[in-house]
Amino acid sequence: MKKFDEIKNILIVGGGMMGKNIAFVMTENPRLNVAVYDPFLKEIKDGMRANLRELAEHGVISEAEIEARLARVEFTADIDSALVKDADLVIEAVFEDMEIKRKTFAQLEERCREDAYFCTNSSVMSPSAISAELKHRGRFVGTHFWNPAHLIPLVEVIKSDATADGVAETVMELLASAGKKPCLCKKDVPGFIANRLQHALWREAIYIVEQGIADAETVDTAIKNSFGLRLPQLSALENSDMVGTQLTWNIHSYVLPALCDSHEPSPLLKKMLDEGKLGFKSGSGFYDWTPESAAKCSSDLNKYLIKMLYGK
Ligand SMILES: NC(=O)c1ccc[n+]([C@@H]2O[C@H](COP(=O)([O-])OP(=O)(O)OC[C@H]3O[C@@H](n4cnc5c(N)ncnc54)[C@H](O)[C@@H]3O)[C@@H](O)[C@H]2O)c1
Repeated sequence: MKKFDEIKNILIVGGGMMGKNIAFVMTENPRLNVAVYDPFLKEIKDGMRANLRELAEHGVISEAEIEARLARVEFTADIDSALVKDADLVIEAVFEDMEIKRKTFAQLEERCREDAYFCTNSSVMSPSAISAELKHRGRFVGTHFWNPAHLIPLVEVIKSDATADGVAETVMELLASAGKKPCLCKKDVPGFIANRLQHALWREAIYIVEQGIADAETVDTAIKNSFGLRLPQLSALENSDMVGTQLTWNIHSYVLPALCDSHEPSPLLKKMLDEGKLGFKSGSGFYDWTPESAAKCSSDLNKYLIKMLYGK
């Protein structure tokens, strides 16, 4: 398998919401050649440019630099293209469908070099399962970018049940060279690391509303104005050490029996689905939304992330 400094040609497979931003991220390393393969290719470069507008507006990156980086990205709708054949590392971001992903990797395996690294950006599907039918399973890992991938630093790198030694580490080195914060997930488990943590919190948040302990706005206010505020600086396990593991033990002994431990989605969530309360897309969920307030919520998030990450 190639060493980090021998990896040059990066192929993003799938130029949708994630693939566009991942392609741009990889141009951060000037040594890399970046290409996007998508059989339904259309206006991917314009889409990439639109996603980057906020970065330019806030002075994080100039229009000229955006154009220079976009000019380095090649595009193809042809799976037999040299861009596919010559790839040293593939990051797949096609539809979240096991059969499409397996078929895509089978097609790539027939065409790519034997020592090419294969990565899947699936948010929930097991890299062991996606790679199950491949001939060279050792070179396969999960690389879970978070949306928006050009802003959120984390990429979880997940070892499958067959990932060869050193593969995840080389992929992490590459991601770090493109400015990302890769984290190693040593076992292929549902939710990897960060979604397990995130959804443990969401389960309890929804439970508190379901049980009538507090309404949705109060739950979010409590999170945003307490531990949510300090999380980027002091995370869970650092915090546990700060207060002491004895206190953590005492609190857990008292409070864990009272927390939601359901293995099913909340009945409240089911009721909301039945009532057509689908969130932004239907205009109501835990809150009421207009198209304008939903758009503002998304744009405020990006502005906040740019401020937090770049101080702009
Ligand atoms: N959307 C998110 O928030 C998010 C976050 C993290 C990870 N992911 C994961 O990233 C992947 C892509 O998600 P998305 O939101 O970008 O989806 P998307 O629907 O926006 O894009 C998918 C792209 O794949 C292309 N495609 C379909 N079949 C293909 C094939 N056989 N070969 C090449 N390209 C093909 C489509 O033309 C489309 O452009 C999924 O696995 C998803 O779970 C999504």
